[in-house]
Amino acid sequence: MSDRLYNAARAVMSRAHAPYSKFQVGAAILAANGEIFVGCNVENAAYPEGWCAETSAIAAMVAAGQSKIVEIAVIAEKMPKVTPCGGCRQRIAEFGSTDTMVHLCDANAIIETVRLGDLLPKSFSFEN
Ligand code: THU
Repeated sequence: MSDRLYNAARAVMSRAHAPYSKFQVGAAILAANGEIFVGCNVENAAYPEGWCAETSAIAAMVAAGQSKIVEIAVIAEKMPKVTPCGGCRQRIAEFGSTDTMVHLCDANAIIETVRLGDLLPKSFSFEN
């Protein structure tokens, strides 16, 4: 399954719309129903209007009626082991748990897996 997730993230990375940063990112989510949802970063000439690959993948998952992230793989062409930005950590937390696995990648494979709870400790959530 991890291989499928890696391959999905890597494939969608090439579709990123990143003409400004030239930093292409892909993300693939394994949802609770076993389906994989993918997304890439989509930038805009008005820079703050762009958004991240993880955000795109979450939107695809939610639009398909899923609401639980079991695992997520993130890959950037120019940065091995890229980690989700702060905003995306919070968005992943909305649909995950402290044990959600976040797979960090290089050009060939998943090279490290971290828990969301380690990336976003003491997070704000609805229970707060
Ligand atoms: N980016 C992502 O898509 N995900 C991350 O985890 C880090 C940053 C995007 C946002 C922007 O389009 C580009 O990478 C440079 O920051």
